Amino acid sequence: MVIDHPRLEEKLIYNSLRENNLRINLMNVTSVPLPINGIHAPELSLIRTIGMFRGARASAVLESMGSYVINESKSILVCGDKVLTYAALSRSGIPIPKSFLALGKEAAIKAYNFFNSVAVDKPPLGSWGRMISLVRNHNMMEQIALAREMMSSSMKGHLIQEYVDTGGKDLRCLVLGGKLLGCMERIASNGWKSNVALGAKVRSVKATPLMEELSIKAAEAIEGEFVAVDLLANEGILVNEVNGIPEFKGFMRATGINVPREIALYIMRMLRS
Ligand SMILES: Nc1ncnc2c1ncn2[C@@H]1O[C@H](COP(=O)(O)OP(=O)(O)O)[C@@H](O)[C@H]1O
Ligand SMILES: [Mg+2]
Repeated sequence: MVIDHPRLEEKLIYNSLRENNLRINLMNVTSVPLPINGIHAPELSLIRTIGMFRGARASAVLESMGSYVINESKSILVCGDKVLTYAALSRSGIPIPKSFLALGKEAAIKAYNFFNSVAVDKPPLGSWGRMISLVRNHNMMEQIALAREMMSSSMKGHLIQEYVDTGGKDLRCLVLGGKLLGCMERIASNGWKSNVALGAKVRSVKATPLMEELSIKAAEAIEGEFVAVDLLANEGILVNEVNGIPEFKGFMRATGINVPREIALYIMRMLRS
């Protein structure tokens, strides 16, 4: 298992793998170098870093050595960049919020003008709801664009999209090996962003056939084996985000599903096949 700063999730996965008598090597990539042309790769590598680029790079190196990785580097990168995610989802015909990619201030303002006074602005990279704004007027869009110009190159650019009024709720569905593990609803405790990191409350929900179909299709579209698919539901259901290294403490609490055990069982199946 590849880690950087192990969270509860990584500890639970570790314990579950141990309980199933799997031999585990904990690779903390912040303290141990990975040989790029090495020959002794683990048969299977589970990528569990907090840092997206760390995970994607470690995954690429392990893949090159012949390790079976979950998830593949390409998939982690596509999930890590919201523009790449939307492009992949859209190519597979999966409904996403109406969105524009704007790579400069002028483009951002034009994209904002397309919407009827309220739009959502996000940088291409990021998590936990950081730097995501509800843009309410022209001046605000301009200020966001000016601030974004000061940021590092990977954070430059905007996704400007329709605000999908869900009443501050979204649905998080976990997919493992092409199967839906379960879904929960996240309800914002203040404001409109339903990230658990921002204090959202969670509760288990039974997936409808459409939720299940979209989650599995979204995982396939980004070629992810273990992913979290976030859905926004109002009139229809749209896929908002796919996470390639999902956190799942909140999900376990809400649904009672033993995710680490499911992961261990899945890994055992993959190792046998
Ligand atoms: N277009 C949108 N319409 C309505 N709510 C949104 C939209 N985009 C994001 N949100 C809300 O903001 C939260 C954070 O946005 P998200 O795109 O998931 O970024 P992050 O990677 O930071 O979690 C979402 O969980 C959702 O509650
Ligand atoms: Mg999110």
